[in-house]
Amino acid sequence: MAVDRSLTRCCSLVLWSWMLLRMMMAQGAAARANRKEWDSVIKLPAEPVDADSDHEVGTRWAVLVAGSNGYGNYRHQADVCHAYQLLIKGGLKEENIVVFMYDDIATDELNPRPGVIINHPEGQDVYAGVPKDYTGENVTAQNLFAVILGDKNKVKGGSGKVINSKPEDRIFIYYSDHGGPGVLGMPNMPYLYAMDFIEVLKKKHASGGYKKMVIYVEACESGSMFEGIMPKDLQIYVTTASNAQENSWGTYCPGMDPSPPPEYITCLGDLYSVAWMEDSETHNLKRESVKQQYKSVKQRTSNFNNYAMGSHVMQYGDTNITAEKLYLYQGFDPAAVNFPPQNGRLETKMEVVNQRDAELFFMWQMYQRSNHQPEKKTDILKQIAETVKHRKHIDGSVELIGVLLYGPGKGSSVLQSMRAPGLALVDDWTCLKSMVRVFETHCGTLTQYGMKHMRAFANICNSGVSEASMEEVCVAACEGYDSGLLHPSNKGYSA
Ligand SMILES: *[C@@H]1O[C@H](CO)[C@@H](O)[C@H](O)[C@H]1NC(C)=O
Ligand SMILES: *[C@@H]1O[C@H](CO)[C@@H](O)[C@H](O)[C@H]1NC(C)=O
Repeated sequence: MAVDRSLTRCCSLVLWSWMLLRMMMAQGAAARANRKEWDSVIKLPAEPVDADSDHEVGTRWAVLVAGSNGYGNYRHQADVCHAYQLLIKGGLKEENIVVFMYDDIATDELNPRPGVIINHPEGQDVYAGVPKDYTGENVTAQNLFAVILGDKNKVKGGSGKVINSKPEDRIFIYYSDHGGPGVLGMPNMPYLYAMDFIEVLKKKHASGGYKKMVIYVEACESGSMFEGIMPKDLQIYVTTASNAQENSWGTYCPGMDPSPPPEYITCLGDLYSVAWMEDSETHNLKRESVKQQYKSVKQRTSNFNNYAMGSHVMQYGDTNITAEKLYLYQGFDPAAVNFPPQNGRLETKMEVVNQRDAELFFMWQMYQRSNHQPEKKTDILKQIAETVKHRKHIDGSVELIGVLLYGPGKGSSVLQSMRAPGLALVDDWTCLKSMVRVFETHCGTLTQYGMKHMRAFANICNSGVSEASMEEVCVAACEGYDSGLLHPSNKGYSA
């Protein structure tokens, strides 16, 4: 009986889907025909030739980077897979898109839909077809730089695909992950330092490797990657999820509205990232400009001026590029043009969790769901305790270092001080790297959480402290610290 009923239901579902599909195809054809007419009507003689006809545009290239790993960071790789599908639908070719992702999510034992990744509570799979260019150990800052520069010889591992672009080409770079002042995370050390990235962009520009470039970056404090150091004359336009001193936000998290399907215990996306992608998917990118997208993404990422649960989208570099149409970077998907009205979906406030709390939020979700497995529960509790302990250790060591360097009254105010807007985080980026190295040698790795202390190390450099003095206080502050004891496992729960 039950079989019969479900069979009937299944068949009627098939029939229904088939009819729906037919209807959509018919509508699509009509829309295509309409658009043809429409396109020829709107082609005005005053428009520059290369803004309107595909064949006169150079090649569109893209680099997509998810900087994290672990199931608790599901959302970053989901963002990047989604971006890949969007660009493919827009007509970019697989051979022109280079993907960096650790690729441990789809097969993670916690993934309720093995082999599938979604980026929206009702979203379709975005994983199928994503090329495995640079995965696992091959997701490194060095490889990213070599890929952008088109330098095949410097690439280590991976598919060897690089941005082999020509002077008339356009390049789109999108990155999603954790960050900190002046750095972006990578699943393999070292971090991606702002100044190194800018140097790569300058080099690419000097080699005449593109016409224009657009870069989107989602990470905490992502503005600090460009503030005060991004030149305006590289024909590169950048937007970031947050300004130089605030968090960016994960969204579509368990228990939120909208919530992922109940079997998911991790966030599916990030606020700025889903904001630009859902905007692109519902607009005619031949008519929407880069500036229009910046404005609507800024509005949505601010969570409609609620900065306790949103961030300031920033722009850097050559803002003249914002007059260009988006299809020059993201391609053009005819299906998006006639997308049904969003019924305010894109205009509603989103519930969010800040990037740095998302890790604990994820572990707590696991803890909540382990009631019937006492052993697992104990294990998860231990992991939460270790993570919190490690955070305290990192915070405490940095604070103590401040006291030792500047005295008890001034320590934290020096370490936390903000430079004037428009000034770079640090004057000497080599110094910043050295200070981080000295700290990590004596106090253990910062981890993705500890990246938030980059400003403290930058201020130590800005105040002229020598490496020798830093060494001395780090030894004192972290004496007896056993990195093996407190360092949380790198598997799944932190990166
Ligand atoms: C890294 O790249 C090499 C060379 O292509 C490949 O053999 C290896 O499997 C890659 N590692 C991962 C984890 O994908
Ligand atoms: C932007 O356009 C203005 C006006 O055409 C021009 O003066 C300026 O130099 C341009 N800026 C850049 C960075 O190219």
